[in-house]
Amino acid sequence: MKLRFLLAASALAILASACCSPKNETICIIPEPQIVNFGEGSFDVARAAISIDPAVCELGREHIAEFAIRLGNALGSPRQGVEGLKDSGIRFIIDKKLAEEQYVIDITPECADIKASTAAGLFYAIQSLSQLLPDKYFNPDAICTEIETCQKPKPCPKSLCRKFWKIPAVHIEDSPRFAYRGMHLDVSRHFFGVDFVKKYLDVMALHKINRFHWHLSDDQGWRIEIKKYPRLTSVGSTRPETMLLKNFEPYVGDGIPHGGYYTQDEIREVVAYAASKHITVIPEIDLPGHMIAAMAAYPELGCTGGPYKVWQIWGVANEVLCPGKEKTFEFIEGVLDEIIELFPSEYIHIGGDECPKSAWEKCPDCQKRIAELGLKTDEKHTAEQYLQNYVTARVQDYLNARGRKIIGWDEILEGNLAKGATVMSWRGAAGGIEAAKNGFDAIMVPAGYLYFDYYQSEAVEKEPFAICCPSPIEKTYSFEPLEGIPAKAQKHILGVQANLWTEYISTPAHAEYMVLPRMDALSELQWCQPERKDYERFKEGVARMMRIYDALGYSYSRNIFGEPGLPGYTGPLGQ
Ligand code: ACM
Ligand code: ZN
Repeated sequence: MKLRFLLAASALAILASACCSPKNETICIIPEPQIVNFGEGSFDVARAAISIDPAVCELGREHIAEFAIRLGNALGSPRQGVEGLKDSGIRFIIDKKLAEEQYVIDITPECADIKASTAAGLFYAIQSLSQLLPDKYFNPDAICTEIETCQKPKPCPKSLCRKFWKIPAVHIEDSPRFAYRGMHLDVSRHFFGVDFVKKYLDVMALHKINRFHWHLSDDQGWRIEIKKYPRLTSVGSTRPETMLLKNFEPYVGDGIPHGGYYTQDEIREVVAYAASKHITVIPEIDLPGHMIAAMAAYPELGCTGGPYKVWQIWGVANEVLCPGKEKTFEFIEGVLDEIIELFPSEYIHIGGDECPKSAWEKCPDCQKRIAELGLKTDEKHTAEQYLQNYVTARVQDYLNARGRKIIGWDEILEGNLAKGATVMSWRGAAGGIEAAKNGFDAIMVPAGYLYFDYYQSEAVEKEPFAICCPSPIEKTYSFEPLEGIPAKAQKHILGVQANLWTEYISTPAHAEYMVLPRMDALSELQWCQPERKDYERFKEGVARMMRIYDALGYSYSRNIFGEPGLPGYTGPLGQ
């Protein structure tokens, strides 16, 4: 065991020592910047003053202030930016020629110039710059590291650490490949509190991810306070217990009640926190399927009138909302009215996945609606499938009239889909390809590459029990979002996202472990032009990121260095 650890540690040290070396023309920043050119000499961050262009906006100033505070804490003496650019030191400069998310970092022995045209650009520049600084920037108690050579971290007295704050002279120009850079979190299957959600947003921000897809409702729990429908949370947010592993037949439960929801004040707090890091929160209210928790609270929303129970098992339920009843649409609209108030996002995700039609086939109200609408089964789809299109279109109209757009899972493509919908392609890339070819915008989330609830390694017997399939970081990294998309349709691919479904993930440490370091790979798919991708260089960057995760207190997988498994985890393992 000890020998294995030493071998792995020395492999890591060799990788890390290649990293950040000007000779190799690589730099420890993930996602890798578009242009990196090394110069001569180095810049001493520890001795530098910080000065600020008067044109920097208020939010940009907040980013600089946070940077200065972290620097001061790390160096043991307070730092503050001064108004007006000085002749040397760290200088935050507004350059209106740069695009909205673009930034430039110019490091010479005299100056570290950080240039952007917006607060977002400054924020992304600071994320990059911070990765060039010693781990102490992220946590003053972290051990010292020599950044110029990325040597193995070694403890040293505080005063000595100052000599490690030199960064190489380098010119960096950077901007993202995709505008939509998403990360998802399912809080229905297991609830995660506000503190964890903020920590999740922090690590997303470090990767320049700018969309947080918050899966707030599902069969196993309704997680957002809706004032018009209080039973959604008083009834729909709790289940008496949860199925153990995959014990469907015969059912075996864990006997542990599970619940939780966010008040509207907490939702506002998270939305504001995300915005301060240039992250837009996209809420998902999954409909018309995946609604049993809501139907347990309001049984009249289902075809049979219930009773229904908040689900304790995983999978796809046959009980779904009844679109034959006007009351169902009154409910959806009432919920969306409050969602719109809480979330300024242009997009609202309305789900649309995994909606069996068996209840609709038997329901007199649904059949009456089908007859009234003149929906007919044809060679491609059933009348009930067209009824789902009716639901999607009606909700889309409602949101469009209020200035919002819909995103739906790729099932919404089946049958007729109204113009203006955005498709989230999860059952492989085919849905995204079809959507783009037909003029719909699409976001790529193919499960085989970007479902981070899948095993981190092939050695599943060492991994925490997961819902499916090994999907190591190398596989995630190999995904090319535009493959198979004709050149003319490529503009419809808005971006890339990864999903964390939480059926088998109930603790923050486990959730972090599943997304890290695969989020490193995700961020390169989202940010880097394909020619900048290089798995060997990327692995070196991951070694650097792991030290940052240690400093910030995130758990993560070391499988990329041949060490599968979550240290300290005592739950069930994969089989
Ligand atoms: C999904 O994974 N059901 C979108
Ligand atoms: Zn019905």
